[in-house]
Amino acid sequence: MNTLGIVTGAAGPLGKAIIDELLINGIETVIALDIVESTMKRSWEGRVYQCICDITDAEAIERTLLPLVEQLGPPSILVNNAGILTTNKVMETSLEEWNRVLSVNLTGAFLVSKAVIPRMKSQGYGRIVNISSLAAKSGGLTAGTAYTVSKGGMNSLTFSLAAELAPSGITVNAVAPAYIETPMVMEQLTKEQRDAVIDKIPVKRLCKSEEVAHTVWTLCSPKSGFITGEVIDQNGGLHFD
Ligand SMILES: NC(=O)c1ccc[n+]([C@@H]2O[C@H](COP(=O)([O-])OP(=O)(O)OC[C@H]3O[C@@H](n4cnc5c(N)ncnc54)[C@H](O)[C@@H]3O)[C@@H](O)[C@H]2O)c1
Repeated sequence: MNTLGIVTGAAGPLGKAIIDELLINGIETVIALDIVESTMKRSWEGRVYQCICDITDAEAIERTLLPLVEQLGPPSILVNNAGILTTNKVMETSLEEWNRVLSVNLTGAFLVSKAVIPRMKSQGYGRIVNISSLAAKSGGLTAGTAYTVSKGGMNSLTFSLAAELAPSGITVNAVAPAYIETPMVMEQLTKEQRDAVIDKIPVKRLCKSEEVAHTVWTLCSPKSGFITGEVIDQNGGLHFD
């Protein structure tokens, strides 16, 4: 089996942690896709290929990602991690914000998946992991309306693809983290908001990118072929179901 992984949102801290985890676990090459250049924390000696691409642009995916996939693939792993956060609740959410957040967080995952699925099908094997959020189930504690809805859509995209692709040897799962110690949280929430959040989290701390990356790898492992259509919560006990 070919071991090429594709990780979107590769310039962010979670994307970088996921790429490190895939490579540490023996994935040979990874396409690091982001709208901006990604500087990896450590050198991977030619195992990481940059793809600068806007995932909301189907033509850009075809022009930038697919030639790399043809060269290196077929891919066995796709992690739909790119996302943007806004915190506006419904009455403060403009149509422009709504469209932008849905376009990156949900349509982007749909477009990249659509480009990659035929290549996974061709080898009868694939692992797709979508990065959702606790917001999808909680209604959004500090997250805004557009973000919350986009992550609900991400869960439904996970279920829909899982149901359709299971017979093709492709599993589709999601990880739903909450409050990872990243700029998305540190910069968008005030110190008072963060302290209030930590106070509510039973484990009394924020999540680490490496912990989410570990869960992503578990779902990407060849031995996880009987797990599909699952959304794994990773929220320090903030929400049980
Ligand atoms: N940080 C958290 O606490 C948290 C919690 C739950 C879920 N998440 C999810 O985890 C994922 C990664 O979060 P992060 O904290 O690393 O965020 P981040 O903002 O640091 O990274 C996201 C990356 O996505 C890229 N991106 C944005 N728009 C893009 C586009 N159109 N095309 C290609 N790339 C694009 C950005 O350039 C950025 O590098 C997101 O989907 C986010 O919603 C984060």
